[in-house]
Amino acid sequence: MSYQVAILGGGPAGYVSAIKAAQLGLKVVVVEKWKNLGGTCLQIGCIPSKALLASSEHYHFAKHGMAAHGIAVGDVSIDVSTMLKRKDLVILKLSKGIEFLFKKHGIDRKFGFASFINPTTIEIDHEGQREQITAEKIVICTGSVPIELPFMPFDGKRIVNSEQALSFAQIPKSLLVIGAGAIGLELGSVWSRLGTEVTVVEFLPRIAPGFDLEISKTLQKSLEKQGLKIHLNTKVQSAQVTDNGVSVTALKDNIETKFDAEIVLVGVGRKPFYEGLNLENAGVKLTEKNRIATNGHFQTSTPNIYAIGDVIDGPMLAHKAEEEGVAVAEILAGKPGHVNYEVIPGVIYTAPEGASVGLTEEAAKEAGKEIRVGKFNFQANGRALAADTAEGFVKVIADAKTDRVLGVHILASNASELISEAVVLMEFSGSAEDLARTVHAHPTMSEAIKNAAEAAWDGK
Ligand code: NAI
Repeated sequence: MSYQVAILGGGPAGYVSAIKAAQLGLKVVVVEKWKNLGGTCLQIGCIPSKALLASSEHYHFAKHGMAAHGIAVGDVSIDVSTMLKRKDLVILKLSKGIEFLFKKHGIDRKFGFASFINPTTIEIDHEGQREQITAEKIVICTGSVPIELPFMPFDGKRIVNSEQALSFAQIPKSLLVIGAGAIGLELGSVWSRLGTEVTVVEFLPRIAPGFDLEISKTLQKSLEKQGLKIHLNTKVQSAQVTDNGVSVTALKDNIETKFDAEIVLVGVGRKPFYEGLNLENAGVKLTEKNRIATNGHFQTSTPNIYAIGDVIDGPMLAHKAEEEGVAVAEILAGKPGHVNYEVIPGVIYTAPEGASVGLTEEAAKEAGKEIRVGKFNFQANGRALAADTAEGFVKVIADAKTDRVLGVHILASNASELISEAVVLMEFSGSAEDLARTVHAHPTMSEAIKNAAEAAWDGK
């Protein structure tokens, strides 16, 4: 069978790209090794973790938060298997939605593992049955996989990765999380809320690297108040699996320290996945950091082959991959396709959530920019106090000369939703004055963004 476009990988980069390319009139096939579409984000990442974060937050609130509202609920318990089934139903519903869209747009879907025979021919291996297809243009979006620490390979039982930590059949007594990035803090929060004793060890002197430092520091205090034990400047060195769990040795501030836990979750980052694709058969080259090398238009070293998402440079985020999916489809259809990498939001779904777009205060200063910083605390926001969600703040960073907003950083219960107005503002190169003069409904938590912008704009 021959196609105009073959897309390798059915995650957020691949399925979004396929739908856009089909809408633009191209004949498209998607090859995906898993039975269901949606990739890591939908099957074993963003979506299931958000389902568990929601369930565990409800449980925690029923147990510890409702009494303050005058609500008595008696004994509160959690049935883990119901919680996991609900998570699986959410995944199934969304996977079916993508399948429906594929049918609607006439996109062919092949089930199997793709590898290059040459730059235009792909072999698909479906449980030993092999089929070849050809395509004029091929888009590689095969995603990423968790990084394993060499001295503690994943065994799925005692030493687990982010996928395995989504499906513990029982609530572990203790969990040691290695790495205080998004994965470690989100999944650590889930199990901590359900009663697990969670300890997080982080190599750097701060949690949530990449976020504004003030957000990291305030979030750390909040997570510690919730019961997570956090050890910074701690580098894990070795691990020994015992009958009851794992004994981990680490250097904390250069002093050897031992951590024992029933289960260890390794959340030290992800690496691009292109194993078995036989990139060499297609002449596709890698960067020094082992991502697939592309030019500014997603084209690899082989002109008819493109790459997007986690396999190429940039943050490994589903929404970044989706934008690249749209842009590459437009390019393949002969249109201009573009992604604005300056305004890609980042979110960490803890309680409160951290959300960030543009330059942090530290990065702006490092870049030698003269800035004005406006901050507003949710303790002074009516809606937040009324809703009992007054933890956190908004920080707006504006260029001191032009007033253009360079970055917005939010720590709030719904920061993931609040950040979008800052993203839109920055997409249109808006100023702190623009934001400060925009009417916000009262009472809303979004007013804190306006208030922080007022503080960043000098008002003259
Ligand atoms: P990450 O790179 O965000 O964080 C890993 C952390 O582990 C870093 O803070 C690093 O300093 C630490 N670390 C590394 N080696 C260590 C060692 N030996 N001992 C102690 N600490 C060590 O990676 P993470 O959390 O695994 O996430 C992977 C990717 O998935 C990231 O690109 C992330 O942005 C993305 N992701 C995004 C989510 C979101 O948008 N909410 C949710 C989950 C993942």
